[in-house]
Amino acid sequence: MDSMLNTLANLPWWAWVIVFLALVAIRDIFVQKNHTISHNFPIVGHLRYWLESIGPEMRQYFVANNREELPFNRIERGWIYASAKKENNYEGFGTDRDIYAHQHIFVKNQMMAYKLPGSHPNITDPCFLPCAKIIGSYNKRKKPYRPASVINVSAMSFGSLSAAAVDAMNNGVRKSGAYQNTGEGGLSPYHKQGGDVIFHFGTGYFGVRSEDGNFSMEKMKQLVLDNPCIKAIEIKISQGAKPGKGGVLPAAKITHEISEIRGVVMGKDVLSPATHSAFNSVPELMQLIEDIAEQTGLPVGIKGAIGKLDQWEELAKLMIETGKGPDFITVDGGEGGTGAAPPSFADHVSLPWVYGFSSLYKLFKNYDLTERIVFIGSGKLGFPAKAAMAFAMGVDCINVAREAMMSIGCIQAQVCHTNRCPTGIATQSKWLQGGINVPLKSDRLSQYFKTFRKEFLEITHAAGYEHPCQFTMDDIQVNVDDNDLNRSLSSTYGYNKAVVPFSGIQDLYNCPYLGGNEYMKNKIGP
Ligand SMILES: Cc1cc2nc3c(=O)[nH]c(=O)nc-3n(C[C@H](O)[C@H](O)[C@H](O)COP(=O)(O)O)c2cc1C
Repeated sequence: MDSMLNTLANLPWWAWVIVFLALVAIRDIFVQKNHTISHNFPIVGHLRYWLESIGPEMRQYFVANNREELPFNRIERGWIYASAKKENNYEGFGTDRDIYAHQHIFVKNQMMAYKLPGSHPNITDPCFLPCAKIIGSYNKRKKPYRPASVINVSAMSFGSLSAAAVDAMNNGVRKSGAYQNTGEGGLSPYHKQGGDVIFHFGTGYFGVRSEDGNFSMEKMKQLVLDNPCIKAIEIKISQGAKPGKGGVLPAAKITHEISEIRGVVMGKDVLSPATHSAFNSVPELMQLIEDIAEQTGLPVGIKGAIGKLDQWEELAKLMIETGKGPDFITVDGGEGGTGAAPPSFADHVSLPWVYGFSSLYKLFKNYDLTERIVFIGSGKLGFPAKAAMAFAMGVDCINVAREAMMSIGCIQAQVCHTNRCPTGIATQSKWLQGGINVPLKSDRLSQYFKTFRKEFLEITHAAGYEHPCQFTMDDIQVNVDDNDLNRSLSSTYGYNKAVVPFSGIQDLYNCPYLGGNEYMKNKIGP
């Protein structure tokens, strides 16, 4: 025995390598039955799997050019990272975009840019850019709300995001005067850091759920009563990445904390069905909106991705008949993000933002309803020129999800669905989220929003306007094809945006319903 151990101990290192490779080869050929390549090409077959697994990183870091990647290319990500860190976010030498390419947009500048008068609020604060409309004012809700920022955090739940990420985002919106949409996972303690909140619920009714899994008005009322940070309520009909797709929250993921916040029992899978149990038709949805608004005093809106228009038209007709309706509509594009969705849904179901929004807005404009609704857009709109296009088409605010994630450190690893997000943002792993420095990251989100608003205002001024609500469909051109290369949005999408009543940013500043309390207190002079 001793001599055998001695022989083994004296084996040279290369003999150990040979033994190890021989064992791998035996496993590949005789033991494992799942991988043909490993069986047919023992040992070297592993190289193929390994190279495939690191392919995305290799392409992202070394191979893909600056404008090539999706959903966000390197230049877009770099602009967000630099803006969030208040670093130099300019580009030198001129654009590297092919500005003749299909779908490229141009903002038409005025001969002489808009000049701020001496007493203008943007002289004291060049980042002050509130929404030009008040949510809930037409329907005379008890607590109308004017977002103090035109850019805000889109629906992302605690559950799909880590506690540290939600915390950083709420502190970030607090510092920048924006709001944070809770997403479907209920209102967590991390949403209560002082920022404005839009409470969002879907078919799982998390946070406002009765024991049998239906919507509970009592819980809704109590939630609003207990949490004055909630400024409005959003009913999710659908989202761009997976409209009409339900989901399961597996029992294994339901921690004590998640069970409390979402109002679900531990140890059992929880279903988010594809459809709502609180309403089955457009009139019933209208009734729910009115009931919630009546009971809570808050404005109530809906979020949807756009495909067919007949039920939206039914909603518009009902709004005319009854004089009631949602206070805001969030239109999500088919290019929208998600924590997890089947590719067949994410790639194909629902229209891209420009087509979806233009058809919906046109419909509501035909019924003369646009003044009654605050339109919110989401779908890769967190860049000033894209936002200018969206405002020209009729939005009043934009929501950003993945751009907000990037501002706090997301590297677009695209593994949100695996619980292994390397940046700790889209995971419940305590270790991974431990790397998030919440105060620093909240500054980053806040700085991204401020830089965005400043640049958006500069583009607006270059076009001759004081506020982006003044953009018209004729102010933006888009490359459509090779013959008539460049057309205005109005001729491309076949409508003109309704004029948004606007009397100056000073009046928005003076509005009693303006949100973003802490930002307003600290950042703006009279
Ligand atoms: C991690 C993650 C979680 C999301 N969770 C929700 C959700 O709970 N409810 C919802 O309506 N949309 C959800 N979305 C969609 C976003 O709110 C948003 O509509 C979409 O990503 C488009 O915005 P973006 O292009 O700025 O990311 C989620 C998106 C991401 C990336």
